[in-house]
Amino acid sequence: MADDRSTADGEVYLPTPEIVSAAHVPDWEALSAEADANYVKFWEDRARELAWHAPWQQVLDQSNKPFYKWFVGARTNIVHNALDRHQKTWRRNKLALIWEGEPGDLRTFSYHALHREVCQFANVLKSMGARKGDRITIYMGRIPEIVIAMLACAKIGAIHSVIYGGFSVEALHGRIEDSQSKLLLTADGGWLNGKIVRLKSIVDEALQRCGCVEHVVVVKRTGHEVVMEQGRDYWYHDLLGLPIARTDGDRCETEVMDAEDPLFILYTSGTTGKPKAIVHTHGGYQVGVATTMKYVFDIKEEDRWWCTADPGWITGHSYVVYAPLILGTTSFMYEGAATFPYPDRWWKMVERYGINIFYTAPTAIRGLMRFGEAWVNRRDLSCLRLLGTVGEPINPEAWRWYHRTVGKQRCPVMDTWWQTETGMFMITPVPSAPLKPGSAGRPFFGQQAEVVDESGKPVPDGEEGFLVLKRPWPAMLRTVYGDPDRYVQQYWSKYPGRYLTGDSAKRDKDGYFWVIGRVDDVIKVSGYRLGTAEIESALVSHPSVAEAAVIGLPDEIKGSVIHAFCILKAGVAPSPELADTLKQHVGHEIGPIARPAEVRFVEKLPKTRSGKIMRRVLKARAQGMDEGDVSTLEE
Ligand code: WTA
Repeated sequence: MADDRSTADGEVYLPTPEIVSAAHVPDWEALSAEADANYVKFWEDRARELAWHAPWQQVLDQSNKPFYKWFVGARTNIVHNALDRHQKTWRRNKLALIWEGEPGDLRTFSYHALHREVCQFANVLKSMGARKGDRITIYMGRIPEIVIAMLACAKIGAIHSVIYGGFSVEALHGRIEDSQSKLLLTADGGWLNGKIVRLKSIVDEALQRCGCVEHVVVVKRTGHEVVMEQGRDYWYHDLLGLPIARTDGDRCETEVMDAEDPLFILYTSGTTGKPKAIVHTHGGYQVGVATTMKYVFDIKEEDRWWCTADPGWITGHSYVVYAPLILGTTSFMYEGAATFPYPDRWWKMVERYGINIFYTAPTAIRGLMRFGEAWVNRRDLSCLRLLGTVGEPINPEAWRWYHRTVGKQRCPVMDTWWQTETGMFMITPVPSAPLKPGSAGRPFFGQQAEVVDESGKPVPDGEEGFLVLKRPWPAMLRTVYGDPDRYVQQYWSKYPGRYLTGDSAKRDKDGYFWVIGRVDDVIKVSGYRLGTAEIESALVSHPSVAEAAVIGLPDEIKGSVIHAFCILKAGVAPSPELADTLKQHVGHEIGPIARPAEVRFVEKLPKTRSGKIMRRVLKARAQGMDEGDVSTLEE
């Protein structure tokens, strides 16, 4: 969505003196210089602000690159920082979570209450045989129990693997199978747009395809009829009612972990159809997410924070669950759709709960822009102090609308660039820095980024190239789960010593980065990250399809939408009905977000002589653009 971008360079928004003087980082240039001179020390100082069971012997171990280690030898557990340590302070009485369901129901948890329920559920998990290092799959909507489940897993040292509730049968199956989870935590359903998303039926179908899951715990959310398989499925509320949940007066010891022990795995799209899980750890991750949230969103004790992301994605892991709790923040979470029942639902909740800091995605902003300013203006948004976006480039027009209509020109907009792999913000402004609409600003303190050409040489400012990061950071991915070669290949082999982001970008003369988009086989649809290969294999799993290629084409609201090109099996006739069937099939296998906007039937696909589909050529043809270098094309 780089449409009106060229006109935006030169447009600068300066922070007000009040914002600057109240900020955690009033002088960002000074802190930048200090962190740049010694980034290891910068991170060590930040780590000292958290609690550790035993200190580190070394901050950063680079002896086996790219398998970096942070806070080597330290003992900790992120849940100790997120929950346990608040129990001994006044924060035990502070609200940790305010939650509103789509139908309008409300639940709140103090730090004390959240801790109690996490302990109870952790006891239940242990009684079901879960142990340190086990993988546990979580598949729920945006309800408080998803947060409780993640924390309960981390508390006992189990590794959670959250699958976004908008994914469907095959996506769920593939990820459960890859992680070899024995336990699956889910809900009967969730509310979205006034309708029930039938999570438990999707689970039942996915489990018919895999053999590793022994037990399923089901949270009753929607209350519709579901099948409970005896000996396999248990209701969450029944388990929490058992004496085992209340051991030691509702307490459960937090497992003391090595700083480098895995905290979670999170599946994300890659260049092959095989699911790829990113591994994050207890030690470095907690330092990275807490520091970035504190500095970028300037979190204060009295704030109420709302990040609209789903916990099923990295934004939810880092900035709905872990960072806010570590900082002792009050978070708000909402279950359903932004426009249900009317397009002012979000603004109504900002007003009602007095949200101060609001963090969402460009696609949501563009979607709400469509309904006009009146819906926003009906609500009193004077409580807002800061705004943020993430997930894809924000076009300057949407940035300005957000700044003007939602933020009333008072609230700086933090455009945070980062990835599942980075775990934390990587390129981002802070509230005291000048802002340029459409640019995520500069690398976070201690980081350096570069835009390079094919051979790894930095390109001149203003020219497009591949975005790379030059320094390790504490919340960095440690590996790809079960596939260290893929970790090295994918991220560190093109430019050894530098981390390959997969994005293209430009840097301007002020050192601001302008991210353009993905240059690999990843498509961002409404900010959701999807892989072409996974969608293609879903298409090919349909009996009528012989071969398929999918590409992302620009869309005004969603950023991109999926277009599929299919070669049918001999004897199968193309028809509009078949195109519809295939769209539905992808929705059923991967999830509604992956459903192609269009399916076209073709006789052949552009391929290289070695047989690789040239999606770039398909994309150029579909848009009537120049096909570029086609010397490797087989035709
Ligand atoms: C894109 C989401 C431009 C980018 C946290 C990246 C962005 C991918 C921005 C990661 C931004 C994320 N400006 N592009 N502020 N934030 N992206 O893993 O292409 O779901 O590589 O993590 O989103 O997506 P992921």
